[in-house]
Amino acid sequence: MTRALMLLIAAAAAAFAAELSPCKQELFTGYYSFDTGLADPCYVQNKADVDKFIETTVCSYMDKVTGYDAATCDPLFFNYMKCALKKRGLLNSNNTLKDKAFQTIALKNKCSTDTNFSKAYPKCKKSTMKYLNILRLFLCLYEAMP
Ligand SMILES: *[C@@H]1O[C@H](CO)[C@@H](O)[C@H](O)[C@H]1NC(C)=O
Ligand SMILES: *[C@@H]1O[C@H](CO)[C@@H](O)[C@H](O)[C@H]1NC(C)=O
Repeated sequence: MTRALMLLIAAAAAAFAAELSPCKQELFTGYYSFDTGLADPCYVQNKADVDKFIETTVCSYMDKVTGYDAATCDPLFFNYMKCALKKRGLLNSNNTLKDKAFQTIALKNKCSTDTNFSKAYPKCKKSTMKYLNILRLFLCLYEAMP
């Protein structure tokens, strides 16, 4: 990911409080684990789209609950996300999220038994993953959980 995107993620990190349940901590760590550099092949392959994402003001609210325009921004991020999820073993062959791998790989099983997580997951997945924006999924889950 580019420097600008890393900054978006860093800004979100500052908003995370210190005392968190193990699941919420892992949502934070998982979100941050998608922070990559300019040499990331997924970025290199999708540079034009990702750069357009960065240059689009409404997309700069990606780390905010409100203000982000998913209809405009998520499609620009779609191919990058497909690549990033595939690289991590999180993508089904039909370009959907592997739910089980999301739990075991992305969240290291820290959320598997958390009922607050299970309650929030279907709604958050539906509202964020049409174009596989897993960063918004992490954020939605984080915000939805007490
Ligand atoms: C995509 O593939 C997964 C795993 O094979 C399956 O569980 C899911 O129902 C499929 N989704 C769609 C929309 O076809
Ligand atoms: C789930 O949320 C409730 C409050 O609604 C809280 O008391 C409980 O500790 C939470 N569970 C976990 C595992 O954090």
